[in-house]
Order: sequence, then C-alpha cells, then structure tokens
Amino acid sequence: MRAIVVRAPGGPEVLELGEAPDPVVGETDLLVRVRAAGVNRADLLQRLGRYPAPPGESPILGLEIAGEVERSGAAVAGSFAPGDRVMALLGGGGYAELARVPAAQAMRIPRGLDFAQAAAIPEAFLTSWLNLFLIGHLSAGEAVVVHAGASGVGTAALQVCRGVARVVFATASQRKHEACLSLGATHVLRREDVHLRLKDSVQQAAGGQGADLIFDLVGGAYLEANVAALARDGRLVCISTLSGSKATLDLGAVLYKRLSIVGSTLRSRNAEEKAKLVADFTARGLPRFESGELRPVLAATFPLADAAQAHRRMESDDVVGKLVLLV
Ligand SMILES: NC(=O)c1ccc[n+]([C@@H]2O[C@H](COP(=O)([O-])OP(=O)(O)OC[C@H]3O[C@@H](n4cnc5c(N)ncnc54)[C@H](OP(=O)(O)O)[C@@H]3O)[C@@H](O)[C@H]2O)c1
Repeated sequence: MRAIVVRAPGGPEVLELGEAPDPVVGETDLLVRVRAAGVNRADLLQRLGRYPAPPGESPILGLEIAGEVERSGAAVAGSFAPGDRVMALLGGGGYAELARVPAAQAMRIPRGLDFAQAAAIPEAFLTSWLNLFLIGHLSAGEAVVVHAGASGVGTAALQVCRGVARVVFATASQRKHEACLSLGATHVLRREDVHLRLKDSVQQAAGGQGADLIFDLVGGAYLEANVAALARDGRLVCISTLSGSKATLDLGAVLYKRLSIVGSTLRSRNAEEKAKLVADFTARGLPRFESGELRPVLAATFPLADAAQAHRRMESDDVVGKLVLLV
C-alpha cells in the first residue's frame, strides 16, 4: 500500500509518499480503507524521533482515521461489515491507504458527516471527553477553563463543556477569540494575559469564585496562573506541555485549596481503557453530532502526499480546529 514514510527523523521535508507493507489484521481488528486521516501534534513529535509508536503499533504516523471497512476479524464480524463507514482512534498507522483498527476503537460515522469531518473527531473529542468528564469530573453549573480553546482539542472541549458548565472560559490568541465564542466559550482571554490576569478574569466571570476545573495543554508557563485561578477543591488536568514541562508549584496553595493536579495521555492507555472510553463516547457523545449540538471543526484538508505541508501549517499555530489528510 502507499503510505507516508519518514526518511529520517527531522523537519516536515522528511515526510514522503512511499510504499509500506499492508497491515496485518487480527481476530478483533478491522481492516479499514482510509479515506481521511487527522493530523496531530504527536505526529510532529514522532516525525522528529521524539515520540516513538508504542510497542505493537504501526510505526507509520497517524492516530485517527475515517474510512470504509474492507474486512472484519472473525471475532468482530457481527459488529462491522465490509463497506461500513467508520472513524477510529489508532495507536499509529493513519497516514496510509489501509489501517489496522481494533474494532473496539471504531465508531460509526454520524449521519451527515463526510470522511474528512469524521477524521477530525476521534482524537479531539475522545481526549476532551476523557479529561473533562471521566478524569476531570466536570459537573453541571461549574466554571471551567479551556486553555488554547481554538486548538484541535480545544475546539472539541469547548463544545463538550457547552450546556454543562455555567462558565466556559477560553484562552487563545486574540484572532481566535471569535471562534472560541462561537463554539461555546462564555468568556475569552488573550494568551499573553494568562500570566497576570487569569485569576482575576475567571473570578469576575464566575461571580467571585475561581475555576472548578482547568483543562490545560500549555503546561509549564501556565502552572502558576492555573494554581492561582483554581477554586477550593479545584481540579487541574494537564494533557500537554506545549510551553515546556518545568515550572514552580506553590504546594501551599495546593494544600490550602485542596487542589487535585492530574496528568493524562490517551495514546499510552491500554486497549481495555480505550475500548471503555470509545463505548462511553459512542453512547453519550455521538448522538449529539446527529442533533448538530457537536460538530468537528475542520480547518483545512491536504492530499496525503502533502503531509509535509500540513505539518508546517500545524507548526505555524495558524489553525482553528483540525487539519486532515485526504487519502
Ligand atoms: N494527553 C493526551 O491524551 C493528548 C491528546 C491529544 C492531544 N494532546 C496534546 O494536546 C496539544 C494540543 O493538541 P492539538 O491537536 O489541539 O494542537 P493544535 O491544534 O496544533 O493547537 C495548539 C495551539 O496551542 C496554542 N499554543 C501553542 N504553543 C503555545 C504556547 N507555548 N503557549 C500558549 N499556547 C500555545 C496555539 O493556539 P493559540 O494561537 O490560540 O495560542 C496553537 O495553535 C498537543 O501538544 C497534543 O500533543 C494530548
């Protein structure tokens, strides 16, 4: 099959359309003809040689796809049939014509969405679902902060919070504020003001209280401001360290305010954990796409052969939502 191969670790120019062996599919897997593949920051790190695929996963880049089932493994033939339109979370192997998909990580594409839109769903929405609800325990009426609200993950997180949280506070580059507001943010703050103004701005938005939950992918540079902005019993869920991983932590504030700080990665979770997450999202999240309450935010598509261009675009930070490769 054709696939994007990484000539050697390095910049986007090392990505080339080449040949790779067809995936080997097990009893509980689907063989999927990939029509679209989502681009993720993890792919950029993997291309640089800094984030190798977990053992047993394809070394080809790509953590999410949408396409058509070609063949089902014997143990899952009753669940998916050839021709079914699916989207899926992968441990690797998305930038290719064919992918091995554990059936428990596949979801039927909601009515009305094309393959490119569907490929923009799994990573962003499953990450948001996991960290806001299952780890962050977001409850009705709470005040939540979503950092980098216009990022791929952020655009999903804002929508997931809408209708649940009382205050949805987004931070982002100012040119992305309109997008954040249209996706469910009730308040916005410029990224360069987080350090000095997060606490006061959140308190103003939340009627004098701090944030109950902060969903953060910026990391080190925001830690102090996050701890200061959290309310008593507040939770900070860190999913990335885009600004770096080192910071000073005021443990006194953590004790005094009884804060919880949790880190989480999706890719490293085992098959059972991923299956549980996908099942929960399929039951409670997917119907909300058909009602129009949730929608994938697709910033741009690129032909598979132009994967390097898609990586450059992601590195530029000039994106609201997701980038997708068309296969
Ligand atoms: N742990 C997990 O399970 C998990 C799962 C999925 C993704 N992730 C991680 O989450 C992060 C976001 O992924 P994504 O696909 O949503 O990325 P993305 O769409 O590329 O968006 C990233 C955005 O973050 C903002 N940003 C970048 N560097 C920043 C900095 N130093 N300080 C403040 N803001 C900064 C920029 O938005 P503005 O212009 O608005 O500032 C940028 O556009 C990635 O690091 C990814 O690896 C983690």
